[in-house]
Amino acid sequence: MRLIIEKDPKHVAIWTSQYIAKLINRHFENNPEKPFVLGLPTGSTPLETYTELIKLNKKGAVSFKNVITFNMDEYVGLPEEHPESYHTFMWGNFFNHIDIKSENVNILDGNAPDLLKECRDYEDKIKAVGGIDLFLCGVGSNGHIAFNEPFSNLASRTRLKTLIHQTRIDNSRFFGGKLENVPRNALTVGVQTITDARHLLVLAVGENKAMAVKMGVEGAYSHMCPISVIQAHPKAMMVCDRKAVQELSARTVDYFHDIEDRIRKEIW
Ligand code: GLP
Repeated sequence: MRLIIEKDPKHVAIWTSQYIAKLINRHFENNPEKPFVLGLPTGSTPLETYTELIKLNKKGAVSFKNVITFNMDEYVGLPEEHPESYHTFMWGNFFNHIDIKSENVNILDGNAPDLLKECRDYEDKIKAVGGIDLFLCGVGSNGHIAFNEPFSNLASRTRLKTLIHQTRIDNSRFFGGKLENVPRNALTVGVQTITDARHLLVLAVGENKAMAVKMGVEGAYSHMCPISVIQAHPKAMMVCDRKAVQELSARTVDYFHDIEDRIRKEIW
């Protein structure tokens, strides 16, 4: 895996948006007709990256006309038009502002009459478009990815999950600080759905992610910390700000700084 350390969340967003644009543009140079398939997260972390991608799209540096997206997760039982549904989040913060075709946007339906079928169909759809080229992810303070909480099966696929108490507490800030308003269940892509992507890009900013970053980068590859799967992915990268790496040992930070020049040359 690779680790990029930028000075603050703004620079994390600039770096990430340029990297995503680069991958998309490179893909279309080689396969002009084939859609680029992008996995996307919600949460506060990717917001600035979406803002930067919108800017790049508006100035013509990247187009989403032939991009197909799959979102990671959605709450169960929250109406799509609810201000905190991930449908509302994605359209309001990203899709409404770029040149993506609405039929190319995929978000799990947390109100589907048959939730298990909804999950199976989602996996089939990902397969039908040839798999995900790049999965952009955030990480929870306990190391969860999407809604794959600690002890999730690392070979899991899209399914129904019960949210643990800590995640509901973390997310209650979006629900007026009221824990009772945070849904108890969600549909989520599985850990394996994420690691099947050809590229994996994990964002972590702020000190409340520092323990998750430490466990993911220096800890054991383990279902206790789902984000640790980045250790075994052939093309995984974590992009952090300085606060998110404050629990890493100096030796770890030195190592990733040493190889950073090489990474930058490879990528840009
Ligand atoms: C939620 C989402 C995750 C996200 C996490 C962290 O639980 N399901 O996909 O990574 O929150 O969110 P934030 O970026 O707001 O810290």
